[in-house]
Amino acid sequence: MDGVKILLVDDETAILDALQILFRGEGFDVSVASSGKAALEALEQARPDLVLSDIRMPGASGLEVLAKAREVDPELPVILMTAQASLQSAVRAVNEGAYYYLQKPFANDELLAICRRAAEARRLKAENRQLKREIRRRDRSQSDRPVGSSRAFRDTLALAETVAPTDSTVLISGESGTGKEVIARYIHRLSERAEGPFLSINCGALPESLLESELFGHVKGSFTGAVRDKDGLLVAARGGTFFLDEIGEMSAATQVKLLRALQEREVTPVGATESVSVDVRVIAATNRDLEEEIRRGTFRSDLYYRLNVIQLRLPPLRDRRDDVEMLARHFLERLGQRAGRSLTLTPEALEVLRAYDWPGNVRELENALERAAVLAAADELAASSLPERVRERPEVRLVAEPPPPNPTMEVIEQAYIRWVLEAEGGNKTRAAEVLGIDPSTLYRKLNRYGLA
Ligand SMILES: Nc1ncnc2c1ncn2[C@@H]1O[C@H](COP(=O)(O)OP(=O)(O)OP(=O)(O)O)[C@@H](O)[C@H]1O
Ligand SMILES: [Mg+2]
Repeated sequence: MDGVKILLVDDETAILDALQILFRGEGFDVSVASSGKAALEALEQARPDLVLSDIRMPGASGLEVLAKAREVDPELPVILMTAQASLQSAVRAVNEGAYYYLQKPFANDELLAICRRAAEARRLKAENRQLKREIRRRDRSQSDRPVGSSRAFRDTLALAETVAPTDSTVLISGESGTGKEVIARYIHRLSERAEGPFLSINCGALPESLLESELFGHVKGSFTGAVRDKDGLLVAARGGTFFLDEIGEMSAATQVKLLRALQEREVTPVGATESVSVDVRVIAATNRDLEEEIRRGTFRSDLYYRLNVIQLRLPPLRDRRDDVEMLARHFLERLGQRAGRSLTLTPEALEVLRAYDWPGNVRELENALERAAVLAAADELAASSLPERVRERPEVRLVAEPPPPNPTMEVIEQAYIRWVLEAEGGNKTRAAEVLGIDPSTLYRKLNRYGLA
């Protein structure tokens, strides 16, 4: 029984000593309490795997020890022993959840056998629960796992799966439409809090005073319109996950209050004097560069460090083009299911999707496909059913590098000529047409700027 933690409770020192020697010899990790009172305290601190307690003791009795044990851990096996056994007390002990009721004097072998059995039963129960949880988690994670197979995305997903079962605060950063909320919900589903609520708020969508009352709650009469007490979302999400979306939009004053709430794990509703405790796992998301916001003085660094325990970065879709095909299939399957069609893409359409830059990321891809599915009569969606901006040649920026603060006419002209040329695929005659100048003038300029 290596390492099994047993708490021995008896007010008779001689018995306690004897038991201690016996259990140590068998490899148990032994702690002792020489009164019921001491046992109650030990239960709080030591978290044993097994309790062996006398029933009759001055102060707190063995039945009180039993009750306390069941309170701290309903599955903690408690074995009660008594010298004056009566059927009545035996029935009572077992009814109240004792694992075994033992009459003194007993043979050491008998006692050890019972304790071993109890420890083994506990171990199996814990293992069983762990396995069940693991199976549930796998089921859930397989059935609606966020889609993506690129290296960058898989890394992010793996980190999300690792942190999900912990209670750590997570900060998700990424451009708009990259799937920040998708990941936040996924973490919640895989967490121990999956059965609890997932509540969210968009910090950029509400004016400061409303946001605060939504987050922290308010009491009746604290402002016009507060006709009754209202729990804040942080409190309402108890036992679950709270998603703070667009955290970068939060005002300085609200940031201070949020920081305090996170540190103290309690909130004071607007207009209230008493605080309310909060039990939530916080996930925050931002499409801003918060470190830059800190440098600019618009985001508090202490709040940032509080939120940024684990950071998940969602790369933009253009940096994980390998995901485009898989995502497209995923969306088409979903759209098809709804419409009773079996939707696919022509090779050209897929080519177009892969080449596009997706400034709106996954959301834009999803919308483009939805539109195509509606417009196309055939189940195989052609490139022509995709939005025009997606079909256009990749965007070429007018000026590749940021222009100097006061660009001269020449700098602008040079950049403009280069842009038109690229847009026209290097065709100088067409470029001259677009520029509205003579081809010979264009050639001269190209020579002068060294672009020829
Ligand atoms: N990996 C993914 N698998 C499946 N669907 C995805 C994935 N990523 C994003 N989506 C879909 O793309 C859309 C945008 O995702 P989401 O709302 O999570 O993005 P966001 O990063 O929170 O965007 P915003 O910053 O604009 O709030 C959603 O409809 C979502 O279902
Ligand atoms: Mg979002």
